[in-house]
Amino acid sequence: MLLDSLGRKHDYLRISLTDQCNLRCLYCMPNEYMEFMPNNHLMQAQEIFEIAKIFVEQGINKIRLTGGEPLLRKDFPDIISLLAKLPIQLTLTTNGILIDKYLSQLVEAGITSVNLSLDTLQAVKFTQITKRKGFEKVWRAIHLLLQESRHVKINMVAMKSKNLDEILDFIALTIKLPLHIRFIEFMPFTGNAWEQSQVVTHHEILDLVRTKFEFSKLIDEPNDTSKKYQVKGAQGTFAIISTMSEPFCSSCNRLRLTADGKIKNCLFSVEESNLLERFRKGQDILPIIKQSVWEKKAQQGGQFPKNYQDTVPEKITNRSMISIGG
Ligand code: 5AD
Ligand code: SF4
Repeated sequence: MLLDSLGRKHDYLRISLTDQCNLRCLYCMPNEYMEFMPNNHLMQAQEIFEIAKIFVEQGINKIRLTGGEPLLRKDFPDIISLLAKLPIQLTLTTNGILIDKYLSQLVEAGITSVNLSLDTLQAVKFTQITKRKGFEKVWRAIHLLLQESRHVKINMVAMKSKNLDEILDFIALTIKLPLHIRFIEFMPFTGNAWEQSQVVTHHEILDLVRTKFEFSKLIDEPNDTSKKYQVKGAQGTFAIISTMSEPFCSSCNRLRLTADGKIKNCLFSVEESNLLERFRKGQDILPIIKQSVWEKKAQQGGQFPKNYQDTVPEKITNRSMISIGG
């Protein structure tokens, strides 16, 4: 079992497959020139499988593939067919652009739930936020996934100056379609120009929804990072991930593996341990994994002040979101 010094049990691993992306979301990708990881620094399909197996033997029962954009990996079909052999729930976070290409493989590998990033329902604004065209593709991807009866969660990073005015439109979408919208409070990462004034909090979102819809609270799972709600009579649900205003670290069960094979015990951890390097040398990586988990800090990598409004982004040591893997 992967326990930390505070008694938290870890059974969920997020594996980033690449730090490359076909979009350039302004809250994720630094503005300045980014040097991507060279291919030989990335875990290869078989390495991902073998390393994941070690985690699974220690009690990991859910793996989420992330990026960058995980579907950009040419060997994505190999990776999921290998991981599908493990006794885990396998899931994926994608921007949706390449879903049509891989849909049948996703279904075959038993991926029943997909998280898709979409911050606006307006094509022009999509291009402003992601700096690329693609709204129609993502919209189509959502419908393709629904046709295949996949559970579709939409991640919407709420930002005051960008998409606050669309929160009610996203809620309306849950009435018509069986979609599960998750509003995420904007978080600071290296190079993403975070400002506390841009954060839309859990409470602000609920206050806004209340002006137009009647909704009720749903029961959350023990390790859920989001708080779930449903509009009366809606097919879908909505939820809020309140990392900034109400962190949920005390029930955290997740670990991360970066595309270059480093374990991060928290999204905001300063420390990383290189598993891939040791694995390639034939060394036992389990003691390193256990030590990393044990040393996990109580909250947000130990890097945030009590009130999120006091956060000084320059003082936070981390990678950019794109190179951590969401
Ligand atoms: N703040 C909040 N959420 C973010 N994501 C990426 N960057 C940020 C940020 N700065 C979300 C995206 C993606 C998920 C993996 O992480 O919505 O879907
Ligand atoms: Fe790409 Fe997702 Fe980052 Fe946007 S948020 S740049 S889609 S990895």
